[in-house]
Amino acid sequence: MANANKQQGWLRSTFPINGEVLKELSNEPVPYHIKRWWYALGGTPAYLLIIQVLTGMMLTFFYVPSTTQAYDSVAHITHNVTFGWYIRGVHKWAGHLFIISLILHMCRVFFTGAFRKPREFNWMIGVALIMTALGLGFTGYSLIYEQLSYWASVVGTNIAEATPIIGQYLARFIRGGEEISQSTLTRFFVLHIGVLPTVIAVLVGMHILQIRLHGVSELKPEDKDKKEKHFPFFPDHILTELTIGILLFFLLTILTLVFPPEMGEPANPNVTPSHIKPEWFFFFTFRWLKLVPFEVGIIGNICAGVFILFWPFVDRGLEKCFPKKDIYVYVGIVGFVTFITFTVWEVLV
Ligand code: HEM
Repeated sequence: MANANKQQGWLRSTFPINGEVLKELSNEPVPYHIKRWWYALGGTPAYLLIIQVLTGMMLTFFYVPSTTQAYDSVAHITHNVTFGWYIRGVHKWAGHLFIISLILHMCRVFFTGAFRKPREFNWMIGVALIMTALGLGFTGYSLIYEQLSYWASVVGTNIAEATPIIGQYLARFIRGGEEISQSTLTRFFVLHIGVLPTVIAVLVGMHILQIRLHGVSELKPEDKDKKEKHFPFFPDHILTELTIGILLFFLLTILTLVFPPEMGEPANPNVTPSHIKPEWFFFFTFRWLKLVPFEVGIIGNICAGVFILFWPFVDRGLEKCFPKKDIYVYVGIVGFVTFITFTVWEVLV
């Protein structure tokens, strides 16, 4: 008994944390509409990110970032390592669901107008997050070093090269030279397992800090003071997120069992495949680049990125010119329908 008290005393002096303050901090009241998944979608990419980090670490134990061994090491993980196919499958599917959940989360934030004052900066952090997530998808696909993923990285770096003014430097920096080589694979590997996950972690930290500072937006701002419309973050909301997490784990397992990860042909820099396809989340840009002259397409892509980044301020201008017309809803519908149409079009050709 005396020993237990001594240990408690040691714990308290080492971690002088006030339980009451901790309770206060974790008990932030959350608006009632967050009980619905559509409104609480932000927790889903957070969960999938953790799954990707854990499975990614396991894959790194066996992956060899060398142009002569990368493909064989992925094949070894897939066919020989115990449960290697499962870990690779869960990592891959978590990556796809991560991007899908980010798009859905972005849509809910957009269509509920939650990007408006005072959350403009958090919207911009979100845009940086989705861009970094796309970078993770691109570098991860290239690591497999199979024919399709190799040529997707050739096309991707060629697109970067066409960026006005900085394009040549950018492409040389990404490739580590004039062509895809060992230096490129090393860079993609470092970006994929180190730089981009760190950037995501910092951005998620800033994103959550902003959410804590402003609270989650109210569905109807006039309900703000009605306390009965709120529920505690801990344990209620955490339990909802845990339930979603368990369901997602089953979904990832089912997807991996039904569509296990496969191996294509090994990369051959001398043979260009007849159909070069990036991952589905780049289909939209790929289709757009095929529709217009290349330079116009690149400039269009950059303009679209800047437009989305600064959207809350564009919206403020539109709101001033056309008050109460909810122009943002029409902009959102046009943007979303174009995205889906271009993506499906690219799937079908
Ligand atoms: C790893 C990526 C992301 C994570 C983990 C994340 C997480 C979250 C969480 C947990 C919330 C609280 C409410 C909710 O669950 O929906 C939230 C709100 C928010 N997110 Fe994200 N998010 C991410 C990416 C994005 C993206 C891509 C955007 C938009 C471009 C964005 C913009 C916002 C905004 C503006 C809010 C405040 C919404 C409100 O107060 O109603 N987030 N995010």
